[in-house]
Amino acid sequence: MRKLHALKLAATALLLAAGTSGAIAAQTSDPLAAKGEYIARAADCAACHTLKGGKPFAGGYAIASPLGTIYATNITPSKTAGIGNWTEAQFARAVREGVSADGHHLYPAMPYPDYAGISDSDMHALYTYMTTQVAPVDGQAAHVTALGFPYGIRSSMALWNLLYLKSPSHADVDAGNTLARGRYLVNALGHCSSCHTPRNLLMATDNSRYLAGADVAGWHAPNISSDPVAGIGGWSEGELAGFLKTGHAAGKAQAAGGMAEAVENSLRYLSDSDLHAMAAYLKSVPAQHDPAVTHPAYGYGQAPARIYDLDNAPSRKSLDAAAASTPIGEALLASRTYTDLPNVTEGARLFTDACASCHQPSGAGTEDHYYPSLYHNSATGGVTANNLVMAILHGVDRTGADGPTYMPAFDRDMNDAQIAAVSNFVASSYGNPALKVDAAQVKMLRAGGPPPALKLWMPRLLALGAIVILLLAGLLITLLRRKRSR
Ligand code: HEC
Ligand code: HEC
Ligand code: HEC
Repeated sequence: MRKLHALKLAATALLLAAGTSGAIAAQTSDPLAAKGEYIARAADCAACHTLKGGKPFAGGYAIASPLGTIYATNITPSKTAGIGNWTEAQFARAVREGVSADGHHLYPAMPYPDYAGISDSDMHALYTYMTTQVAPVDGQAAHVTALGFPYGIRSSMALWNLLYLKSPSHADVDAGNTLARGRYLVNALGHCSSCHTPRNLLMATDNSRYLAGADVAGWHAPNISSDPVAGIGGWSEGELAGFLKTGHAAGKAQAAGGMAEAVENSLRYLSDSDLHAMAAYLKSVPAQHDPAVTHPAYGYGQAPARIYDLDNAPSRKSLDAAAASTPIGEALLASRTYTDLPNVTEGARLFTDACASCHQPSGAGTEDHYYPSLYHNSATGGVTANNLVMAILHGVDRTGADGPTYMPAFDRDMNDAQIAAVSNFVASSYGNPALKVDAAQVKMLRAGGPPPALKLWMPRLLALGAIVILLLAGLLITLLRRKRSR
């Protein structure tokens, strides 16, 4: 823990020395390419096209789509393995319409339905950056996408595009219009909708529920519409901009999972004025009300009256006195001395052993919020316990504009029942007491979350298709026989 603190202090000092107010500087002196680099950051092209520790834009990142694994391709300017022979028009068509230079359709794991709105001048800058500043890598990515039947039929995407692909204007937004700039950054570049908007049966975003929250690979990307209870209406613009820049807002939320990647690869590089434009726009998005939600996700819980410190004698005494009446006191006693107390829950015991050293026995976290409070925290008070469970399974590992943040993953140290127990303890002590988790749910989240409706229905649809074909064939044969017998 000390090490982490030292690391954090060093990182903060470095950032303070460098000045944190503006965006992180571009790598090139050519202004057009530098603009393109900023677009590539804002659109987070590297998130999928660069493997962690691999060569920039050389591809290979596996996207565990529920329909099968889809691999991002090499988009370096290599003439043999990348886009080195592509014209700007071919590049723009792939990015906005999902059609590769040789005419094959891309799966929307590449977020072209969002990029459809990228302006002509930004596309030109992006193409210039990708083809002049990125080092060519001549090897194909180690894995190529091969989905099973029927998802492997790429031409079916043409029909999908006909149904769902929009063709918005490609003019530049007025630089002085903050809300228009924010909308452009959130929609066309940031593709926030690709995680935060629910999808329909055919996996297209359901725009009638724009930013109403959705499940992504086990995590829940929350409602970020302006609704004051179900969404982010209660966040200030500063809190939102700060969250996007650093990955946390004290007393509100932290970014783990896909959101941590968005902060680390993309959002921490954006200028403060762009981050504020995004925040202002989000606060203007029509509210997606949810009658089932009665509290803001960060609105649950309050500091317990007593904070227990085992290394301090007077506190230890009051702990003994309090032990019988509060679950936290019981848990502490249980883990250190009275392990056989019959009424101590498994969850309380696990919390004391595995979590309290950082989040504090009270759950209040540390004063500097580096170890966050578990109450007033959207991961423990939301409509689902998914992010609580996923954070325990996979931890938090993120670098924001204020430096690195780390919580260990417990996926190897705790089994499904234990994670369920500690999650229930955390939710009932600090968060939304209505949240209940069982081992089966943890098992499902460990495996990457529930399959989408399309996957659940496809065997039935295929079976239905087969029946329809058989019926038609039968009808045809009967008709032919009748004709012959006549
Ligand atoms: C969320 C992940 C993701 C992001 C973000 C993303 N891509 Fe992709 N991209 C993919 C995947 C996956 C494919 C391959 C799709 C397929 O095989 O059907 C792809 C394919 C492409 C292709 C086609 C390459 C070829 O050989 O056919 C181009 C060009 C491309 N991406 C450019 C970009 C650019 C430029 C950006 C940023 C503006 C970007 N991508 C952002 C996932 C992503
Ligand atoms: C790859 C998927 C993904 C993308 C893309 C994404 N998010 Fe998120 N977002 C998430 C997840 C998952 C969480 C929950 C993180 C957690 O609790 O650890 C989240 C959390 C948030 C929160 C906190 C909400 C709360 O109530 O706790 C905000 C605000 C947010 N995202 C805004 C954005 C914006 C703005 C964009 C676009 C620039 C964006 N996100 C893009 C997945 C994503
Ligand atoms: C080594 C210190 C450490 C330990 C041990 C630890 N955490 Fe954390 N936890 C953190 C840090 C750091 C964060 C992220 C803070 C941030 O993003 O600013 C975090 C974040 C969280 C979050 C919010 C996650 C999200 O996605 O929003 C939850 C919930 C959480 N921890 C619960 C737990 C539980 C339950 C345990 C025990 C099983 C635990 N933590 C153990 C340090 C720790």
